[in-house]
Amino acid sequence: MSSNIRWHGSDLSFDERCRLQQQRPMTIWFTGLSGAGKSTLAFALEQRLVADKHAAFVLDGDNVRHGLCAELDFSAGARSENIRRVAEVAKLLNNAGLVSICSLISPFFRDREIAKQIIGEDRFLEVHVSTSLAECERRDVKGLYAKARAGKLVDFTGVDMTYEVPVAPD
Ligand code: ADX
Repeated sequence: MSSNIRWHGSDLSFDERCRLQQQRPMTIWFTGLSGAGKSTLAFALEQRLVADKHAAFVLDGDNVRHGLCAELDFSAGARSENIRRVAEVAKLLNNAGLVSICSLISPFFRDREIAKQIIGEDRFLEVHVSTSLAECERRDVKGLYAKARAGKLVDFTGVDMTYEVPVAPD
């Protein structure tokens, strides 16, 4: 970060935003294998919250890779950057008063821990969508497990790249 930049605070306080939105925003972070059901659950939760008049927004791994994270691949370093960016956006949404719902494989402890630190421990809920590899592979909704097993896709989580299971998810 450059030393030639300075934070410019808003005249609206966080408490005022919370009052306006009538909620205490937080981030619900879904982690799990590809095909586990993270996005399905994330969008269902968004639907439910909005039906209850809460402002909520889903940041989905596949979706952010269409724009915000379009240049990132699936190497460990690029995944870390993907998660860092999404965590920063989730925090901005929280600061604006919205509930953030994040749906990313986020396979590494360290990256999830960094996301928690960025967002703030008191605002971060980690949810492990713990569908087994066998079941994700049986579903293979996008045909990616078949591709990975055939060696046509490298660094695929659960096949040739590890998924570190959360130890104490919320
Ligand atoms: S993360 O590891 O960086 O958190 P993210 O959730 O953004 O992953 O993206 C995962 C989605 O990208 C999967 O749902 C899958 O559709 C697709 N994908 C493409 N290549 C891979 C790969 N090598 N490993 C995992 N998912 C992949």
